[in-house]
Amino acid sequence: MEPGIVPASDNAITRAARRLRDDELVAFPTETVYGLGGDATSDRAVARIFAAKGRPRFNPLILHVPGLAEAEPLAVFDESARLAARHFWPGPLTLVLPRRSDSGLSLLASAGLDTIAARAPRHPVAQSLLRATGRPIAAPSANRSGRVSPTMAAHVAAELSESLALILDGGPCPVGLESTVLDLTGTVPVLLRPGGVALEELAELLGAIETPRGDAAAPRAPGSLPSHYAPDLPLRLDAREARPCEVLLAFGPEAPPPGFAEVLWLSQTGDLAEAAANLFALLRRLDRPEFTGIAVMPIPERGLGRAINDRLRRAAAPRS
Ligand code: TXA
Ligand code: MG
Repeated sequence: MEPGIVPASDNAITRAARRLRDDELVAFPTETVYGLGGDATSDRAVARIFAAKGRPRFNPLILHVPGLAEAEPLAVFDESARLAARHFWPGPLTLVLPRRSDSGLSLLASAGLDTIAARAPRHPVAQSLLRATGRPIAAPSANRSGRVSPTMAAHVAAELSESLALILDGGPCPVGLESTVLDLTGTVPVLLRPGGVALEELAELLGAIETPRGDAAAPRAPGSLPSHYAPDLPLRLDAREARPCEVLLAFGPEAPPPGFAEVLWLSQTGDLAEAAANLFALLRRLDRPEFTGIAVMPIPERGLGRAINDRLRRAAAPRS
């Protein structure tokens, strides 16, 4: 069955909500990336998500709700959790919190952990869909496990067609990178995944934030597998010269090094938000067999640059 890509009209959203309540899967736009949604209270729907993505069952999913009021029955919010939610929701911030025993959530969704990851997306289509469904929606990024996340409906259709009832098309995702995942279950907040809300903004609101490097985050963020977000071509970071038949992702106003087979700009003005919004779509565009690899110019490690570099490092990591 080829699922339709349908424009996200009110009518289509109502239809999508009905399919979700029937344990089927629906892809929908958020401000970060497209999500592969299923009813988070249904073991059957959640099992379907893992199967559709080819995702290991030990890697828990993010649960989407319209806002704080709908999240409070699912998890225990302390003062800083409430502060973070009030300040950044709806928006690209995911909070890891203790799960309430009476949450009604499928245990499979949080991979058996006693915590959950919750977020309220601010994309109007996601908001309408969540309200129309009236249930928390588990939604990982709508790509096959380990591959580049989708920022357009066509990306979803290319990879996940058979398992979906419907793909709601809301145009390109404005942020373009996944949400920031912040663990608030300990005494100090821990950044599990850099994303659409910059570390600097979180620190301003919450004070000191722990930022485990590389593998140190792995046990706490089970999804932080080293190789992830990977195109077929090898990726090379901090490129300052061309190799034969290589293509370049350029950044900033400086002239790129000569000799690349093709050059695409993440942002010609050096704007990190623009670079984030372009990253995944450009990686997909350059990922063609006539080239030998994708090189990327250096990106500054601040603001959204931290999340961009995190995704690039994982995409460049040795594949297992
Ligand atoms: O922007 C996003 O967050 C997108 C859109 C669709 O909302 N979703 C997304 O989901 O990126 P996913 O499943 O691809 O990433 C979920 C991340 C993983 O790194 C996972 O390990 C972590 O959240 N996570 C989920 N539940 C967790 C938990 N209870 N404790 C720690 N990490 C958790
Ligand atoms: Mg993902």
